Amino acid sequence: MEADMDWDALVGHASASTIHAYAPYSGYVVGAAALTADGRVVTGCNVENASYGLTLCAECSLISALHMSGGGRLAQFVCVDGLGQVITPCGRCRQLLWEHGGPSLRLLTPEGERTISQMLPQAWSELSE
Ligand code: THU
Repeated sequence: MEADMDWDALVGHASASTIHAYAPYSGYVVGAAALTADGRVVTGCNVENASYGLTLCAECSLISALHMSGGGRLAQFVCVDGLGQVITPCGRCRQLLWEHGGPSLRLLTPEGERTISQMLPQAWSELSE
């Protein structure tokens, strides 16, 4: 059976990750946390850059953490702002999440639980699911 985690617990991991964020340009810190299908928790934070455009979203560091800790598939995901409020991943990051979770990846959003397919309908993919 695929791993399952209480959303409050995953939000706690995301909130804790915001302290690592580097956001001197926007002042907007983001923390992200995901549960992998085999039960690991991977986290990420945003890391900005003076160029602005080269900023790494929290989802980018989470996906790197996923691969650096053994890879696998994402089962659940949430990201939060500096107040611990649940936010939605940006468009580019929805594609990142889809790549590593597939269409059934579950997200907690400000409007409740959704699948990544609902958040990114007709996602681009060259891989068959
Ligand atoms: N940001 C993320 O980390 N993830 C998102 O999905 C949306 C935006 C970051 C990028 C930037 O450092 C800050 O939030 C403001 O846009």
